[in-house]
Amino acid sequence: MALPTHVGIIMDGNGRWAQKRGLPRTAGHKKGAETLKKVLKYAREKGIKVVTLYAFSSENWSRPKEEVDTLMNLFREYLKNDVNELIKEGVRISFIGQRERFDADLIEQMNHIEEKTKELTNFHVVLALSYGARDDILTAVQKLAQKVKEGALAPNEIDMRQISSHLSTAHIPDPDLIIRTSGEQRISNFLLWELAYSEFYFTPVLWPDFNEKEFEKAIEDFELRHRRFGNVV
Ligand code: IPE
Ligand code: IPE
Ligand code: MG
Repeated sequence: MALPTHVGIIMDGNGRWAQKRGLPRTAGHKKGAETLKKVLKYAREKGIKVVTLYAFSSENWSRPKEEVDTLMNLFREYLKNDVNELIKEGVRISFIGQRERFDADLIEQMNHIEEKTKELTNFHVVLALSYGARDDILTAVQKLAQKVKEGALAPNEIDMRQISSHLSTAHIPDPDLIIRTSGEQRISNFLLWELAYSEFYFTPVLWPDFNEKEFEKAIEDFELRHRRFGNVV
């Protein structure tokens, strides 16, 4: 089968990677940011068009304050340095998730980056930050209900396309492949609507240890899959 157009990655296992080495969990997050750089370079060179990265879930806010603060500072650094490198290379960057929950400077940075790169087409990186699929679906339902209330839409006009187009992922194709590192075999509230027909690849490798070779293995595995989309062919 052909290369996946869109790969979603649940970047899990940073904390365990650090704990195994007697380091604070935050050391794992720092190492994880380096993995991300390698993985994006590989995906782009390989010809994958879209990569969505689950970096922080809507539930991750409940972690200890010190860990959340470190993650916020890592995002700050990432948006300032690494994202700028990507922009220079013509990469489109978007964000999905509850943006309003971040500090004002981060919100401003996200808006600015998205606006600046929205016309770029050669490679698209989507960062899921404070993202939760249930929350995204809920927000879409509220928007549709408002349209119905205003008389702009009839209830029987709400179809699957309408729901898709009111999600924060409206501008991206559904993921073909979802990779989760760290050995956990669950979705943890990632892209629930969009992954209806995605292929899954679970690896025990912890995110800081994930690399080009491991990514290549996931792609090779995907290429052997036979997707039927409910049909019989
Ligand atoms: C993923 O690694 C990064 C985030 C969720 C922010 P974890 O921090 O969940 O690492 P583990 O799963 O505890 O090892
Ligand atoms: C999922 O990982 C979220 C991200 C990788 C950002 P978690 O570590 O939060 O998920 P659970 O708690 O193991 O399900
Ligand atoms: Mg985890």
